[in-house]
Amino acid sequence: LKIGVLLSGSGSNLQAIIDAIAAGRLNAEIRVVISSRPDAYGLVRAKEAGIQTIALSKDVYADYDMANEAIAAELVRAGCEYVVMAGYMRMVTDSILMAFPDRVLNLHPALLPSFKGAHAIQDAFEAGVKVTGVTVHFANAEYDKGPIVAQRAVEVAEDDTLETLEEKIHATEHELYPYVLQLIAENRVTVGADRKVHIS
Ligand code: GRF
Repeated sequence: LKIGVLLSGSGSNLQAIIDAIAAGRLNAEIRVVISSRPDAYGLVRAKEAGIQTIALSKDVYADYDMANEAIAAELVRAGCEYVVMAGYMRMVTDSILMAFPDRVLNLHPALLPSFKGAHAIQDAFEAGVKVTGVTVHFANAEYDKGPIVAQRAVEVAEDDTLETLEEKIHATEHELYPYVLQLIAENRVTVGADRKVHIS
């Protein structure tokens, strides 16, 4: 499975994917890592793993559509079959979604459709939920709303703080994302006519 990873930050999920490939748990190849920020630590991780990196400048990002067109072109040029968002804090728009229909994945640190948005872990913690979790879904034009591929629950313990809950969520993400990518690599994931994801 040839993938392109989009990120904006620390890239711990990129690292989990790199590690899963190295360990033989994931039959994939990361063709390119594209960052919306030139200082994202994820770029360092990619370079250390010998992966091609692209960081788009703020000027390019000032124009959303232009940025998305540039990213789509790079993903196609790199031969990507799937696009994997891993802490990418930008919306993907039509130029990417149309180049990769039902092939753009996102990772969200809550059980969608609960706690959409950029502060999901904190929002869940402050709401006092006893169970939250992690969602992998296909991206579409509506933020955090595409077909759900997989979810894992994470219990909020009595003594959890926001920090310990964050750790649990991230550890769960690091397991779930490579697992889902392997299902895709094995051609076991399809989006049905009902727009629901079916796993065989
Ligand atoms: C993850 O919690 C992911 O769910 C969210 O952003 C975070 C990215 O972390 N979308 P990292 O950059 O992979 O460490």
